Amino acid sequence: MTSGSRLDDLAVLGGAPEFTEVLHVGRPNVGDRRALFERLEQVLDRRWLTNDGPQVREFEARIQDLLGVRHCVATSSGTAGIQVAVRALGITGEVVVPSWTFVATAHALRWLNIDPVFCDVAPDTHNVDVASMEAAIGSRVSAILAVHLWGRPAPIVALEELAARRGIHLILDAAHAFGCSYRGRMVGGFGDAEVFSFHATKFVNSVEGGAVTTNDDALADELRLARNFGFTDYDATGAVGTNAKMNEFSAAMGNTSLDGLTSVVAENRRCHEDYRGALSALPGLRVLEYAGNESFNFQYTVVEVDPAATGISRDDLYAVLWAENVRARRYFRPGCHRLEPYRSELAHAAVMLPNTEHLSDTVLCLPTGPSVTTDAARRVCAVIELAIAHGPELSDRLTHDASRMASLAVGTQR
Ligand SMILES: Cc1ncc(COP(=O)(O)O)c(C=O)c1O
Repeated sequence: MTSGSRLDDLAVLGGAPEFTEVLHVGRPNVGDRRALFERLEQVLDRRWLTNDGPQVREFEARIQDLLGVRHCVATSSGTAGIQVAVRALGITGEVVVPSWTFVATAHALRWLNIDPVFCDVAPDTHNVDVASMEAAIGSRVSAILAVHLWGRPAPIVALEELAARRGIHLILDAAHAFGCSYRGRMVGGFGDAEVFSFHATKFVNSVEGGAVTTNDDALADELRLARNFGFTDYDATGAVGTNAKMNEFSAAMGNTSLDGLTSVVAENRRCHEDYRGALSALPGLRVLEYAGNESFNFQYTVVEVDPAATGISRDDLYAVLWAENVRARRYFRPGCHRLEPYRSELAHAAVMLPNTEHLSDTVLCLPTGPSVTTDAARRVCAVIELAIAHGPELSDRLTHDASRMASLAVGTQR
């Protein structure tokens, strides 16, 4: 798009797409291929492919060092990490979680026959609202599980105080927050345990993978048992365990990803600033800030769309962007409490969590990362600017062309 572009130039109305190559949220960073291949050669030469191998140990040690935490227990995924942490802590009954998160946070619990109880988030940060979380603590609740959403730390001090006062556990879902700090300390050492995801779309990528970090020595022992069938020796088990081990190939990718952290943060930050500079000037858009004197990974650029001020709904803007091959995402619509199976069980309540439900209608995550150049970000912003400049007219035309919208339906949640 250029300053002379007209509404009909938008691809959603029949124009040519702005991008021939699709822009994604969380396009994997593959890092230095030669370093990766060298590591993989070593793995193959050793024929030590999994079961607490050297790559996994190196990955864990580097994370401990980077985060200043005593223990890092690498797992096969973030979901598996939540599950081994929950089991190792002996959590049962119910756990309070924010609804505004990726559904894995809730499913990980439910898979263990633990009921998630959903609470609301604060509209300014998108992180858990501690008062809402406390109000949801009933007699069956044995833990609270908060999320550092978009890499912005949850209100940890208030959560630690709440957990201590109610005599329950605190787990922190740090899937988005590797490399982020809270009051000058790296995320990873708070609560009873924190859980990272190293899924391919995350800031640190081991293709699939995760880790539980903790400063509790006894808990770390339990976690190591739990992720490896409960084995205490070659032919002895101490407890029920599962298979949640990280393999050597994943750890090799994870180590390569750690090598490139500094440059990925710089690129993420540059991309975020590119968007922020252009979008902050537009009416009705709020770009979520990375505020304060903390470390952030800048992995997510999150925008709230106010339809009254822009003249266009978030969903229409989403359709506009997809038509241009900009795969913005409506994370985490519609909120876990409105996804199955939770939705059916809570069907009695019309609006349960007003802030979550509002965000569910207004949030858009924009493609970020090293693959989104300054020029690409500028062109994405130009599309948004054109759409907003003609908001009401565009909305009218899209309403009359609902079939075009339907053809843009998204496949998977990722
Ligand atoms: C907030 C949150 N929690 C948990 C998970 C689950 O992590 P994984 O995909 O590694 O199982 C994810 C990611 O995908 C996530 O975004």
